[in-house]
Amino acid sequence: MPRIAELFFKTAIVFLVIGIGIGLMMAISQNHAVMGAHAHINLLGWVTSALFGGYYALNPAKAEGRLPMTHYAVYTIGVVVMTASLYMLLSGNTAFETPVAIGSMITFLGVLIFAWIAFAPAGQRAARPIAAE
Ligand code: HEM
Repeated sequence: MPRIAELFFKTAIVFLVIGIGIGLMMAISQNHAVMGAHAHINLLGWVTSALFGGYYALNPAKAEGRLPMTHYAVYTIGVVVMTASLYMLLSGNTAFETPVAIGSMITFLGVLIFAWIAFAPAGQRAARPIAAE
């Protein structure tokens, strides 16, 4: 499996542990104020990162070069900044409104990089049979 696939998948699992932790915390305390942060950590962090990992695992040719690592770095930083800021904002800290917006934009940039990778034609290596590698 390409390294980037494993990296995305392991990061996704970290988001899942944090997302479920917040879900359990909400359920136990019966205070659902941070529901938006819980939902985004699980869906952007766990589900989407795991999908990216699955994509690179199924398309090793697309995992080559520097761009997939740029995709990983930009997307993951964006999700961390956005969801941590959203958690603080929903906890009542209005100062985190701007960091939520900045984190959202960084996350979106990560998605645009992925769109570029997914839609660009595969490189020469993709056409070669595995035995020739
Ligand atoms: C043990 C695991 C989990 C627990 C204890 C948990 C708990 C909760 C709680 C207490 C709420 C608030 C419900 C409300 O106020 O209406 C919630 C909402 C939500 N959760 Fe989880 N959750 C868990 C896992 C997940 C996972 C894995 C995902 C996504 C992959 C997820 C996605 C969502 C979403 C999207 C909402 C918002 C639902 C809405 O808008 O009504 N949750 N969760």
